[in-house]
Amino acid sequence: MRIVILCRDETLHGVRRIAEESRRRRHRVRVLDPYRFLLKVDAGGIGLEFKGKPFTGGDVFMARLGAGISEHSLALVRHLEASRALVINPAESLEAARDKLRSVQLLARNGLPTPRTAFAPDPTYLLRALEAVGGPPVVIKLPRSTQGRGVMLARSREEAQSIADAMWALEHDVIVQEFIGEAKGSDLRVMVIGSKAIGAVRRRAPKGDFRSNLHRGGSVRRARLSRRVAGLAERAAGVCGLDIAGVDLLETKNGPLVLEVNAAPGFEGFERAGEKGVASRIVDYLEERWRGHRTGGL
Ligand SMILES: Nc1ncnc2c1ncn2[C@@H]1O[C@H](COP(=O)(O)OP(=O)(O)O)[C@@H](O)[C@H]1O
Ligand SMILES: [Mg+2]
Repeated sequence: MRIVILCRDETLHGVRRIAEESRRRRHRVRVLDPYRFLLKVDAGGIGLEFKGKPFTGGDVFMARLGAGISEHSLALVRHLEASRALVINPAESLEAARDKLRSVQLLARNGLPTPRTAFAPDPTYLLRALEAVGGPPVVIKLPRSTQGRGVMLARSREEAQSIADAMWALEHDVIVQEFIGEAKGSDLRVMVIGSKAIGAVRRRAPKGDFRSNLHRGGSVRRARLSRRVAGLAERAAGVCGLDIAGVDLLETKNGPLVLEVNAAPGFEGFERAGEKGVASRIVDYLEERWRGHRTGGL
């Protein structure tokens, strides 16, 4: 099988591990930068060039492009789909997952529990947005935040106002969300591969922070995956159309809430916590999908 991993940084842990595992199984792997592709449509149909030369030679394309995915990279994924290539995850799901408002809409529409969330188009509506989520403290988020960098805690109306004003001045949209204090800076990250939750880790924020992202200095431990959490994570990935997903959940006394879905989940934390089989499960899944694709099953 010829595997093409689309990503902007080939040194990323997840990309390296998937490539390593694929090569170990004698698959041909190329890690390619989406920005080196030229997309063509002409009388002959859909075509592609990579670094100025006609491109063929991919059986399975893995889009390891997280919430930072650009319009160009999305167009590339759609172009590949239009040429009937097998792309994991599909373009529509990448689009849903990169936008926290869009994913919360999909989760809520399908009856999945999420923190109360509001989207205020401009300053006039900020107070209403705060009320809609139960008032401060609230979390204010940039819709395309990753690694916890666009996620802020506002303890009062004044703090919320000044954060939102700053974001609006920079022409960023903001999402206002109920702050789940009972989670105490801890969340569950569940890895879903091909509609199956395969494992979970508990991430804990460093002292003085509420964000549990490893990039913010969070710690990670292996966690038991209850049937309830596994089911929620699988449904969350499913309603967003993701074949492979990292689903974040916050625990409350009324049960877990789905916080967000990640389309290109890292799994360094899983490996650090002793869960070593993620890369292998991902490659198993690529092989399974490729078999189905070749025999016309998909
Ligand atoms: N509503 C919330 N209540 C409590 N903690 C939150 C909330 N939203 C985010 N967090 C914390 O911040 C972290 C980052 O938020 P998240 O929405 O996952 O953004 P990112 O995509 O940047 O990871 C979460 O893993 C969680 O620890
Ligand atoms: Mg997150």
